[in-house]
Amino acid sequence: MINNSVLDAIYNRRSVRFYTDELVDDESVKEIIRAGSFAPSGLNNQPWRFITIRTPEIKNNISELTHYSKIVIEANVLIAVMLDTDAIYNRDKDLQAIGACLQNMLLAIHSLRLGAVWLGEILNQKDQFNKLLSVEERYELMAVVAIGHQTKKTLSYSRKNIDELIIKEI
Ligand SMILES: Cc1cc2nc3c(=O)[nH]c(=O)nc-3n(C[C@H](O)[C@H](O)[C@H](O)COP(=O)(O)O)c2cc1C
Repeated sequence: MINNSVLDAIYNRRSVRFYTDELVDDESVKEIIRAGSFAPSGLNNQPWRFITIRTPEIKNNISELTHYSKIVIEANVLIAVMLDTDAIYNRDKDLQAIGACLQNMLLAIHSLRLGAVWLGEILNQKDQFNKLLSVEERYELMAVVAIGHQTKKTLSYSRKNIDELIIKEI
């Protein structure tokens, strides 16, 4: 197996759902957003926008919009990743770009020795989310990234063997 720091981050990052009370500093939050913003996007349209949420009362309100309320409450900071629908040029490609942005964020978080999980289930309440935070309709919720310093309780997920994934080698 080839060994380098990028592959190491890809293979060792896992979703983290249990956090300590320790602060995630603003510099780290900015770095995570910056890493997200360096993702590729079609025509380089950079359709991602971000909302950072630290205020406990607001986190409590957001927690009521998802089954993953404990994660939302206990994460030190949440970053909501929004699609700016005014920036859309091709919805399929814009959604792919947002996915790349989110993965960049997760890898950056891992490299900063923090833990995070990509929360998607909350999208069932995306309209409520905008109302709650008084965010314009043009911004569409894509995911909430819950971030904190991880406790030791992290589950390990296996992956399919790549032989099951390759359809053809022509
Ligand atoms: C689009 C998407 C939505 C997800 N939504 C949730 C979610 O709502 N709650 C949660 O706990 N994990 C969520 N996850 C995390 C996945 O459960 C996790 O990435 C997967 O089980 C593999 O585990 P790993 O990230 O530790 O490798 C989501 C991941 C993706 C990519």
